[in-house]
Amino acid sequence: MYSNKKSILVIGALGQIGTELTIALRAKYGVDAVIASDRHPANEKTTEAGPYAQLNVLDKAALQTLVQEKSITYIYHLAAVLSATGEQNPLMAWDINMQGLLNVLEVAREEKLEQIFWPSSIAVFGPDAPKVDCPQDGVTNPSTVYGISKIAGEQWCRYYFEKYGLDVRSIRYPGLISYSAPPGGGTTDYAVAIFHEAIKTGSYECFLAEDTRLPMLYMDDAIRGTLELMEAPAESISIRTSYNLSGLSFSAAELAAEIQKHKPELQVTYKPDSRQAIADSWPQSIDDAVARKDWGWKPKFDVGLMTEDMLQNLGELYANA
Ligand code: SER
Repeated sequence: MYSNKKSILVIGALGQIGTELTIALRAKYGVDAVIASDRHPANEKTTEAGPYAQLNVLDKAALQTLVQEKSITYIYHLAAVLSATGEQNPLMAWDINMQGLLNVLEVAREEKLEQIFWPSSIAVFGPDAPKVDCPQDGVTNPSTVYGISKIAGEQWCRYYFEKYGLDVRSIRYPGLISYSAPPGGGTTDYAVAIFHEAIKTGSYECFLAEDTRLPMLYMDDAIRGTLELMEAPAESISIRTSYNLSGLSFSAAELAAEIQKHKPELQVTYKPDSRQAIADSWPQSIDDAVARKDWGWKPKFDVGLMTEDMLQNLGELYANA
């Protein structure tokens, strides 16, 4: 078997985080140790890259069968409906986000899995939370269904840890910026779309106002942080709901100016839509002192480095397309 005896299932492997986390896990633990799964059928890309299973996480029996057949010991459960899509269809978002998590937690309990990772979000914080350097235990009171599902999910994670000893670990991701797979249905998606348009068309209409400042993180840092959290000794994990994690904080106009340092021709206009209210309800920056203390979290990418890396990688992708 595998030298480290890990058998890992990634749920939501075709999404923005899953795409890169699957690659990182395979690089670390071996291609065959990591089964990618998503609700979409396999395609050439997924099957060529390594083991793949089509799975709808709402089908608990199918999840349990897969876990048993493949002797899964670790699950990274990433499938979720994000903030903006959630507001279009709140009950659907609740169903997918909550029932999906509960299915994973129950299967993990019944099959005695070793470890679970589940992402929470800065969306747990609502208008009552401190806007600047929002602390780990800042008042939450989310105003989106996405945020409600995340804060409830955090409590379920802690419940399974305390009641059943299940080693569930979680990070409250800020907006994630990456070039591999697009985000979908989130409020922070503008910070990815602007890079694509800077390269493709040279103009971008932003759906948030120019002074809207949100917490963000480059995907390289997010993936590294996730692996570091999962490998930290259990006794150093003091937070069993979900860790605040901070990396970047910038306004839409500041990001545009950073990209314009490399692409001065980029034109950005601002036309806030319904996502503005969601963004306004969230903190602008996050205090991650507890993650730094407990498991040594430290981001590597500042906004300048992130922008250079995004433009270089997207430039290569479009040039080779
Ligand atoms: N990026 C997410 C969203 O915008 C926040 O977790 O919904």
